[in-house]
Amino acid sequence: MRPTRRPPARRRTAVLATVPVAVAALLGATAPAAPCGPGAPGAGDPYFPLSGNGGYDVRHYDLTLRYESASRRLDGTAVLTARATRRLTRFDLDLTGLKVTRLTVDGAAARFTRDGQELVVTPSRAPARGRLFRVAVTYHGTPKPVTDPDGSADGWIPTDDGAFVAGEPQGAMTWFPADGHPRDKASYDFTITVPRGLTAVANGVPLGRRTAHGHTTFRWRETRPMAAYLATATIGDFQVERYTTRDGVRVYNAVDPREARAAAPVLKKLPSVLEWESRLFGPYPFRAAGSIVDHAPDAGYALETQTRPLYDSAPDLATLVHESAHQWFGDSVSLTAWKDIWLNEGFATYAEWLYSEQHGGPSAQRTFDSLYARPASDALWAYPPGDPGGPGHLFGTPVYARGAMALHALRRAVGDPEFFRVLRAWTAGHRDGHGTTAQFARLAEQKSGKQLNGLFRTWLFTPGKPDSTANPPLSPRPSARVDP
Ligand code: ARG
Ligand code: ZN
Repeated sequence: MRPTRRPPARRRTAVLATVPVAVAALLGATAPAAPCGPGAPGAGDPYFPLSGNGGYDVRHYDLTLRYESASRRLDGTAVLTARATRRLTRFDLDLTGLKVTRLTVDGAAARFTRDGQELVVTPSRAPARGRLFRVAVTYHGTPKPVTDPDGSADGWIPTDDGAFVAGEPQGAMTWFPADGHPRDKASYDFTITVPRGLTAVANGVPLGRRTAHGHTTFRWRETRPMAAYLATATIGDFQVERYTTRDGVRVYNAVDPREARAAAPVLKKLPSVLEWESRLFGPYPFRAAGSIVDHAPDAGYALETQTRPLYDSAPDLATLVHESAHQWFGDSVSLTAWKDIWLNEGFATYAEWLYSEQHGGPSAQRTFDSLYARPASDALWAYPPGDPGGPGHLFGTPVYARGAMALHALRRAVGDPEFFRVLRAWTAGHRDGHGTTAQFARLAEQKSGKQLNGLFRTWLFTPGKPDSTANPPLSPRPSARVDP
């Protein structure tokens, strides 16, 4: 646990945030799919009832953006290609705070209204069920981040030389019209124009840049399915470094000059970290990699933006290991509900423990033991990681540390070879898709042939500090001989 990375948890207000539950959203989202009618305003996630939408699946986002960093004005056109899951008489997109000036569906002007974060669209001709349709939205304004239930800023966060763009869990809607819940993943194209001298960095591979009339346009493409919160269009004064790894992964690093000296020794390790993680977790899931190291004191956290994690300042090595591990756990294999967040944060934290163990630092067992030694009153035991109890708890210590403890307990119970087989089966079986806690537990039982109900119940779902029977002393086991 390095507090440098997780001010959101530190800054978390003592007040338990309660999200106003939009009953209509919940009802709409949980109703059985109708063959015809309006799409729901939410994806059915009780933590963020209005995040995401119903009635369609986005296949592709084509985002064309222009940002004037001095005036902070954003001009955008988003073209979404989506498939209707019903005859879609009306549907919503998530968008907050920006002015929409034109909206077409399949080329025809469509009526639209705004209702909080919902952009409600009534096409002149309803897309038929199963059909692909195209929505083009032209918009502009001064994007502002949203404040999350944990008190942190999320979305388009202006910096002194551009913007730090990180959307977990709900900030995508601050800069483009989105189906904003991770249930809906899509590929992305980005065309971003910024004042000459600045660099715009998004996900995937760079497709080139062009400078004209004092502005430079950067093009980016991410072909693998990506959740909206993992998209970025971070802008600033950056030093750029590009190379291809031995495995053919295209690396693009963008570093704020103020962070360059501190970042260099850590960024140098990226290829070896990705190789090490590939050995443990299975093949790296993407074709592009890299880092964006910004100077963004107002953000206060890092994010595992797909293919290219985003840091608010020069990261330490453990943070690089953490955000890299998210490429497997969270990015390639995505959540279907935010309450399953330990599948992201517990796994990425456990990757840090494993890295330490295999690189001359404390063993995972030692890290586990020192956490377990904390008294029952410690914040670590405030809520169980598998059921954080609300959106204000998504990024708290129990999710990160006790989530990692749950994985360590699993490793102890099944042995190293089985444990790493489970991890690799998980990343392979759910690659470019989704996974739930129940699916992970079932997989662990199938692969190990062990009954693990009690273990998962204890570590993930039981409030309070698990008793010492859940933490048996380390004993040599036959499997410990085998390397992962
Ligand atoms: N997933 C990020 C990490 O690697 C944390 C994001 C925190 N975001 C927030 N809005 N509090 O730990
Ligand atoms: Zn994380």
